[in-house]
Amino acid sequence: MASSESARPLDGALADDPHRPIYHFLPPANWLNDPNGLIQWKGQYHLFYQYNPNGPFHGTIHWGHAVSADLVHWTDLPIALAPTPAGPDQDGCFSGCAVDNDGVPTLVYTGIRPEVQCTATSLDDLLTWQKQPPQPVIGAPPPGLDLLGFRDPWVWREDGLWYAVIGSGIRGVGGAALLYRSPDLVDWAYLHPLCVGDPAETGTIWECPNFFPLRDRHLLLISPIPLRKSLYLVGRYADGTFTPEVRGPVDDGGCFYAPQTMLDDRRRRLIWGWLREDRSAEACREAGWAGVMSLPRALDLRPDGSLAIEPVGELERLRGQHARHADVDVTSATPYAPDDVRGDCLELDAEVELGDARAVTLAVRCSPDGEEQTRIVYDRFERRLSIDRRQSSRDRSVNRDARHGWLSLGEAEPLRLRVFLDRSVVEVFANGRACLTSRIYPTRPDSLGVEITASGGRVRMRSLDAWAISSIWTFPRDR
Ligand code: FRU
Repeated sequence: MASSESARPLDGALADDPHRPIYHFLPPANWLNDPNGLIQWKGQYHLFYQYNPNGPFHGTIHWGHAVSADLVHWTDLPIALAPTPAGPDQDGCFSGCAVDNDGVPTLVYTGIRPEVQCTATSLDDLLTWQKQPPQPVIGAPPPGLDLLGFRDPWVWREDGLWYAVIGSGIRGVGGAALLYRSPDLVDWAYLHPLCVGDPAETGTIWECPNFFPLRDRHLLLISPIPLRKSLYLVGRYADGTFTPEVRGPVDDGGCFYAPQTMLDDRRRRLIWGWLREDRSAEACREAGWAGVMSLPRALDLRPDGSLAIEPVGELERLRGQHARHADVDVTSATPYAPDDVRGDCLELDAEVELGDARAVTLAVRCSPDGEEQTRIVYDRFERRLSIDRRQSSRDRSVNRDARHGWLSLGEAEPLRLRVFLDRSVVEVFANGRACLTSRIYPTRPDSLGVEITASGGRVRMRSLDAWAISSIWTFPRDR
């Protein structure tokens, strides 16, 4: 295998599936949800993930495992964690993280029914894992609290001690991240909630907390039930307590959930999220797979305390054939649809001056007659960025609503849209600070066009760069 190619077995039917992404990570078949255990080990990026080897639905949750040297090409490895019959994880190995315990790679994760925390270590560079006694290592939630959940440990080292937050919710109070401390990853003492939210704003249970420093602040990422989207809280951490100052969505496209982050050897805080399906369980069963990992993104803090999110630079390696168009005026009567910008696996980079227009639309996956199209719309009066999926598919059984996020542009600031199309995945990044990731399921093979249009005036498209993106996978010929 050449080092720039990814390997995995795949049967022909899945390879031909028009909705199956070709440059986002996903397992050879079956179910994927949260990213887990992100860690760089001996220079390689390891990505574990919630995985059901028994079908494209949530159940019998294992930890799948993949490795990459460049964040772009992945090799799927054998399952890392499987439920142990009669063990505390017999009903599933739920989400968790990986840490380097003085040279010993250690996973900390949740066993269920009841929810408890478990550990496993590896002696062979993360390939195989041995569950460690005591199993579980945290056998019950703290006494005296009426909790709604107790899962998804996130562990870090601070001043020579280990700390963990566990996702939870306090009944009648709000979502919570519970803080623990340990000298050795074995003896854990509960301290207190690191942070508790207001249920009206941040839901009743926090899944998959992540907590880490970023510039001169700390960030708490949460995936609250019932919000179905992840939030970031930026604030200050002192004396074991986190005080949020700024809050916002990580991604407003409706399909990005339960993200996990890691710090890499370039000091980047990288983040991946689970991109949920937005079609029926039956459609997933027919497809044979469900769930895909987002592209890796890098986080930063903006001067106003809000979160900056950009896809990592390594993704440029995937760029193939290039087309560029520059300095074009566009109105609703004169939309711009370049012939050489077409496809279902594309990267687009558009810079648009809004001129006197109210809104600009970048439509992708357009059929020639416009019957199918997915519209990415920026409305400067509403300060709103949307993915409008109402015409994204003729298939009425898939979710086709519109999703919105806020984006406030400066007076003379052009709109900069970076769009990654990968069959059923659309990831949109706007001006380094707004993200919308959605799933779309066009039915027509000719839904491949791209068009820019304006409403309420004239916009100037300063530039539109488009690259064809090819598959990160190699398919064994002898299957
Ligand atoms: C988030 C989540 C986690 C849990 C895992 C189970 O999507 O519900 O809270 O550990 O998925 O697969």
